[in-house]
Amino acid sequence: MLTSVVFPPPSLNTGENDFIHADISRCGDLVVDISTTIGPLRLKNPTMLASGIMDEDAGSMQRMIDCGAGAIVTKSIGVQPRDGYANPTVIELDHGILNAMGLPNPGIDLYGEEIKKLQATKVPIIGSIYAADANEFARLAEKMQRFGANAVELNVSCPHAKHYGLEVGSDPALLHEIVSFVKHHVSIPVFVKVSPNIMNLVEMAQTIENAGADAIVAINTVKAMKIDLETTRPLLANKTGGYSGKAIKPIGVRCVYDIAQAVKIPLIGVGGITTGEDAIEYFMAGASAVQIGSAVYYRGPDVFNVVCEEIKTWMKDHEYSTITELIGAAFQ
Ligand code: DHB
Repeated sequence: MLTSVVFPPPSLNTGENDFIHADISRCGDLVVDISTTIGPLRLKNPTMLASGIMDEDAGSMQRMIDCGAGAIVTKSIGVQPRDGYANPTVIELDHGILNAMGLPNPGIDLYGEEIKKLQATKVPIIGSIYAADANEFARLAEKMQRFGANAVELNVSCPHAKHYGLEVGSDPALLHEIVSFVKHHVSIPVFVKVSPNIMNLVEMAQTIENAGADAIVAINTVKAMKIDLETTRPLLANKTGGYSGKAIKPIGVRCVYDIAQAVKIPLIGVGGITTGEDAIEYFMAGASAVQIGSAVYYRGPDVFNVVCEEIKTWMKDHEYSTITELIGAAFQ
């Protein structure tokens, strides 16, 4: 039986972001500490809310914090408000979720009010942003920093938005320019979320590292389609969308594993993480933390607490006491 103990001693609590209460449990002689770091960010546990789910406003994000998320990634936000695509935008399939929302968002100035409301929280808030060029990305990143975000996540991987996302993230020269320009304009860490829908993923990851990014988030959704046999038409209004959930986990694990061999900056795994064992597989592939999206739908908002308990139980059973021991274990 794992019992939580009050932690940490003040000497361990000197992370840049002053996030206290690392999640530490004791089981007999074994102390299990599931806190982790992403560059200068300290997370009490390695589960983060992925962009695009339950992040409409401060209220829904606070709920995910209350359910144990170790960090929150916001909705992807652009310079101007955007309506998104017509319905249907989301379809549940047998082994995952297919969506093409079309980047609906209120624009950075309005959304900034939601981020400001979360300023008192000790859980890192990471502002996801999308744009078509380096100037726009830098403007958005500066605003995120001003509103109180602890890091930004550059969305260069949405698989179906014209001029944005993958269109930006599959051009190495443009991506290098964007990342280095954003780094030049903000002091908070810059994460870059990459797509599995490219053949030169490792080259892109190296480009991102060389441009000065602080971490790579892998992966965004897999470009996919569902056709309705009766109407003979694609079901999504946008025809193609992004596939997420359990079915894409092996793709995400492979991408993290490939990137881990090519770069030194921390990796954040995302794609199909539903259980503690899924998270552990991503750590072994080289991830320092994981993001959870579709599983909030499948297991409910308490998925963060539940996955953390599952991680601790697995670590206890296999005699691991820190996440660091697990990171990249597949390479040992
Ligand atoms: C959307 C989809 C994505 O995969 C993403 O990264 C951002 C936004 C969307 O459809 O809105």
